[in-house]
Amino acid sequence: MIGIFDSGIGGMTVARAVEQLLPEYSIVYLGDIARTPYGSKSPATITDYSLRNTEFLLEKGAEIIIIACNSASSVATEALRREFQTPIIEVITPAAEKAIATTKNGRIGVIGTRATIRSGVYDQTICDRQPEFKVFSAACPLLVPLVEEGWINKQETKMILRRYLHPLKDRQIDTLVLGCTHYPLLKGLIQARIGKRVNLIDSSVETAKYVRELLTAQPELVHRDENGATTHRYYVSDLTDSAQMVAAKIFERPLELLLT
Ligand code: DGL
Repeated sequence: MIGIFDSGIGGMTVARAVEQLLPEYSIVYLGDIARTPYGSKSPATITDYSLRNTEFLLEKGAEIIIIACNSASSVATEALRREFQTPIIEVITPAAEKAIATTKNGRIGVIGTRATIRSGVYDQTICDRQPEFKVFSAACPLLVPLVEEGWINKQETKMILRRYLHPLKDRQIDTLVLGCTHYPLLKGLIQARIGKRVNLIDSSVETAKYVRELLTAQPELVHRDENGATTHRYYVSDLTDSAQMVAAKIFERPLELLLT
């Protein structure tokens, strides 16, 4: 069983991509809605929450853990790897590597929460591999609440995006990493604002592809469920109307959310 956690519902973009790319695996998901958002919290608090989320998923039978949250991936990955024997997958490396493979001019933009951008993890991951590349980052703290309110196509959201993306538009980037698992829901607006020639990198999709490669190379890591015996369970630490609404939007179907 594949365990996935996020601070809330944004990580469901990763879970959805995993469902599509790896239909023969069961999934147990935890959205820590009661303590969301993580992106504005300190590294110590995010790490503490991430440790508890991982314990919960392991108790439910997870054999690998995907940290489907850029903020938690940025600051808590090392602590989780120290604490647990289970393979821990983060969302930063797959997205950074895809950005490196995609850019033609070596100028990459990254948008994310304050925690992610402040950690500098994307800059470091990209520049460790390609020191001559330039990374331009922007924290976009208002985007997560807008997505959670379902304000996906509102004029106000477009205005806020214009403000956030303006500095990146002057940097001649040809690739932009959506460094937050909520942002795929704003992909259309972001593409329209940043311009058609900029390639958007979706950390959700790249992470699901990475997990598929990992399980192809090491199938013994996770038990496969043959003949449609898979289970997909979506737990949340608080049940809210907006979570229900955004989950249905991500999955394009009503999703039963289970309270932890
Ligand atoms: N899902 C989180 C991320 O990818 C954003 C939400 C939060 O701040 O908790 O960074």
